[in-house]
Amino acid sequence: MQIIIYTNAQQVAESAALWVKELIKKKPAPVLGLATGNTPISLYKQLVEQHKSNSLSFKNVTTFNLDEYHHIDSTNPQSYRSFMNKNLFNHVDIDVNNTFLPSCAAGENPRVQGLAYEEKIKQQGGIDLQILGIGANGHIGFNEPTSSLSSRTRIKTLTQQTISDNSRLFKPDEKQPTMAMTMGIATIMDARYVLLMATGANKANAVKEMITGGVSAMCPASALQMHENAIILLDKAAASEL
Ligand code: GLP
Repeated sequence: MQIIIYTNAQQVAESAALWVKELIKKKPAPVLGLATGNTPISLYKQLVEQHKSNSLSFKNVTTFNLDEYHHIDSTNPQSYRSFMNKNLFNHVDIDVNNTFLPSCAAGENPRVQGLAYEEKIKQQGGIDLQILGIGANGHIGFNEPTSSLSSRTRIKTLTQQTISDNSRLFKPDEKQPTMAMTMGIATIMDARYVLLMATGANKANAVKEMITGGVSAMCPASALQMHENAIILLDKAAASEL
């Protein structure tokens, strides 16, 4: 693990954007793994700005998102597809047919969908760079504590902590999903590079467990200790318990 501690969240986003930019410029057909949540929003802002200033094209980029709520319509504003459209895809020159999320619509079999997602990633030659955030309980994607370290894309029931952490994003009249499709820990570990961003004091404990705890299914992010190219970008607050 390479751990880099910046003064603030803006610097974390700028550094992450440099990694993405370098990959896009270097590879003819880059494959990016993307994440949702508050943390990567400032990274996506940076990428959109760089696209608008003409220095970055997403024309040849393929993307795979980590996760998506179960049985959510992609047009639902709470879907991760909507999140990605709003924060990145709608503002850059990416071909939307090259953007994938591990969705499982009503009537579809999650096992079949999970296997198909894994297959699709393989067909594209694997993920070059996977962006990650971290949950306050150490989850990555929606791999909650106790997730098998060898897990692949599948359906997961969210923990009460994750449901309550994410409840701030739902209006009182909106139904909050309690299940999601997520890449597995092994899927994430297959990425050639992993870039985890963590900002804010509410992530400090999870960051400490990820970096200084033992590798354990109780802290899914700790699996990254075994990844050859895991880069952890922290602000001071997220690094405050190290
Ligand atoms: C969600 C997502 C994760 C994300 C985490 C933290 O549960 N599935 O991919 O890393 O939340 O989100 P935030 O960045 O908003 O703290």
